[in-house]
Amino acid sequence: MQSEGDPSRAALISFLSLQRDWGADEALFDDAQDRTKPAIVPSARAAVKSTRATILPLPPVSPVLEATTLAALRAALERFDHCALKRTATQLVFADGSETARIMLVGEAPGAEEDRAGLPFVGPAGQLLDRMLASIGLDRSAVRIVNVVPWRPPGNRAPSDTEIAQCLPFLHRHIALVRPQRLLLLGAIAVRALVGGKEGITRVRGTWKTIEIPGLDTPVRALPTYHPAYLLRQPAAKRAAWSDLLTLRQDCVEVGIMHDAAMRNTQPITKS
Ligand code: URA
Repeated sequence: MQSEGDPSRAALISFLSLQRDWGADEALFDDAQDRTKPAIVPSARAAVKSTRATILPLPPVSPVLEATTLAALRAALERFDHCALKRTATQLVFADGSETARIMLVGEAPGAEEDRAGLPFVGPAGQLLDRMLASIGLDRSAVRIVNVVPWRPPGNRAPSDTEIAQCLPFLHRHIALVRPQRLLLLGAIAVRALVGGKEGITRVRGTWKTIEIPGLDTPVRALPTYHPAYLLRQPAAKRAAWSDLLTLRQDCVEVGIMHDAAMRNTQPITKS
């Protein structure tokens, strides 16, 4: 028996009162514990549940954003397997024109001729585009030409929203690497991809838009106009397209990226 003045008893009482202060209100388990058995270890699942989330290392930076040159961007596209268009196309149609152009043209998607040649706008729409450029004193070597999607959609259908979204980071990166001062958006798909909104091309054409491009610290001014393939089907729309080209030309002269001299040589696009 321990007496009142027993130090071990005093220690035990003080320990119990500490337990009470901590909130312990039971001294016994309902069931007798078999202390000859190993202690119960929580299952792995319970352990996972009870631990706090761990901060995982960030995934590696996407190869698109890592591309610091156009050659690296092209290589990243060649490796990119997440757009189904690649499987039905003959080859990648990356771009044409100058890598340092101040003016960049954005089309929709390669057609059959472009798919064969590996270059954008080489078919009938491309021949009209060449004449459109010439009408304001430009040629392919003075601009950069790209498409929203770089692979031909089967049967020349329009690219789907998913395909556009899959390829958009590459288009953004292309623009960021070339750093054009003005964009000419050829048709509704280019406008949908880069500007967004639901307005038709007839409503938005000829009006400057300002576009934020990831990786560029300054927004880029973009002018929507009709797609040359549409102009081939609707020659009456050429008058409006010509007006848009003059708007582009005038603006480029004002900001000093085109010269006034070529302005006097402008010719309306008449022949189809
Ligand atoms: N139409 C486009 O939008 N792009 C091309 O490269 C060819 C036709």
